[in-house]
This record gives sequence, structure tokens and C-alpha cells, in this order.
Amino acid sequence: MTARAAALLAVLAAATLPAAAAVNQGYPLQAVDISIHNHAALQRGAKYFVNYCLSCHSSRYARYKWVGEDLGLSEEMVRENLILTGGKIGDLMTVAMPEDKALEWFGAPPPDLTLVARSRGVDWLYTYLKAFYLDESRPMGVNNAIFQHVAMPHVLWELQGWQQPVYKENGGANGDRRVIAGFELVKPGLLSEEEYDEVVRDLVTFLAYLAEPAALKRERSGIWVVLFLLLLLGVTYFLKREYWKDIH
Ligand code: HEC
Repeated sequence: MTARAAALLAVLAAATLPAAAAVNQGYPLQAVDISIHNHAALQRGAKYFVNYCLSCHSSRYARYKWVGEDLGLSEEMVRENLILTGGKIGDLMTVAMPEDKALEWFGAPPPDLTLVARSRGVDWLYTYLKAFYLDESRPMGVNNAIFQHVAMPHVLWELQGWQQPVYKENGGANGDRRVIAGFELVKPGLLSEEEYDEVVRDLVTFLAYLAEPAALKRERSGIWVVLFLLLLLGVTYFLKREYWKDIH
């Protein structure tokens, strides 16, 4: 490698490192293993999403009808379980909360979540939803280990309960900021830790599906394309035999 290339690489590395550190704030991301083909997880995730997230966040590129079809739900089930706003089956999954009001209440507008699994990644989302902690210095009384000064309240507190951060012993080595090593549950929620992890995993599965609903359809049509090509091969073969049978 030439000296110039090495210098360029060093500059690039320096430019990307602080950005990466800002994303998870020194708190390690937890890997999550999900499959958007797991219908049961998707159905549960959709239900949590409409119950706990859709009041503030929209998914304005998805229609209830499409989601129902992709998740194997009848229209009636969609109406009963997913449409909580009195909307119609063909409606987009938007929110009733006006954006200026949201800005006023939270100080930051809740972003549309359609593509968040792509912009943030599933591990980030999984860790984020498990990393809210009590912090009296914040307006909502909560903070987040990988999203410092987040404007979102801990909407799943009833399920998870409340946790307090446990700091690394010599976190001061990283400037003056203390580094969070883990959490301690100070007020239990309705669910055990394992059950809460499952809920978050289902939610992340649904968010991953939202970001790429076409993936499900693409794979399904892939099978038809292959079958069609095989059929075409058969037809072509017999056609060839037919044409050549009198030529010796
Ligand atoms: C009470 C309103 C409210 C509810 C309910 C809510 N959020 Fe939020 N959320 C916010 C606000 C406000 C922000 C913006 C935070 C900021 O920029 O500081 C946010 C930010 C986020 C972000 C970060 C987006 C990004 O890339 O910056 C994610 C992810 C998210 N919310 C997921 C969820 C999920 C999943 C649920 C349901 C379990 C949910 N939210 C429920 C208000 C809400």
C-alpha cells in the first residue's frame, strides 16, 4: 500500500469511528436472531406495534390490508386486532397525532418507522427497546443507553419494569462520561426478563418485515419463476424432438 493510500484510509477510519461510537454510545449492541418468515412472531409483533407504537409513530407506507395478507390474517382478524383507530382495512398505517403537537410534547417528532430496521439495523432496535433506564435529569424521567437524551418515553415500562444503570468502574477513562455496563431492575414489570426479550424480538421481527415486505413476496414469486422455467424447458425439449425427428 502506498503512503498516500494509507493516509487516506487513516482519515476515513477517523471519520467513521466517532460516528459509530455515537450510535451505540459505548454500550454494546445485543445481537438478535429473527426470521421474517416466522408468522407467529410477525403476528404478535404487529399486535404489539399497533398497541404500543402506532399512537406516536406511523408506518405510512404500509396498508393494514397488505400487512394482513402477508401475515396470513383474515380481514376480520385485521379489523379486530390491528385497526384500533376505527380506520378502514385499506388505510395506510398513519397516526392521528399531529406532528406539531408531537414536537411540542416530546421536543422531537416520533419518526415514521417503516424503514427504521434498515437505517438502524435489527440489533440496534433490539438493544434500544431494552435499554431505557430511570434518569431524573431528563424531562420524561428516562434515558436510553444507546440513544442518550432520547425524547421517547419508555412505553413498554409496564411490561419490562424500571431499571437503573450499573456503571463501569473506570468509565472515567473515556473522558468524564460514565459508561454503562448493564442494568439492575429496581421495579419489576408484568413480564420476566426472558418474556420481555421475546416481546422485543417479536416487535423487531415486525419492524424488519415493515422495512422489506417485498422480501416475502419476492421469495414466493421466485418459486413460480423456477417452475415456469422448468416447464418451458420441457416444452422446448419436445419441440426440438418434434422438429428434428424427420432429419437423419
Ligand atoms: C409517546 C409517544 C411514543 C410512543 C408510544 C413510541 N415512541 Fe418511539 N419515539 C418517540 C419520539 C418522540 C422519538 C424521537 C426521539 C428523539 O429523536 O429523541 C422516538 C424515537 C424512536 C426510535 C428512534 C428512531 C431513530 O432512528 O432515531 C425508535 C426505533 C422508536 N422510537 C421505536 C418505537 C417503538 C418500537 C415503539 C413501540 C414499542 C415506540 N417507539 C413507541 C415517541 C414515541
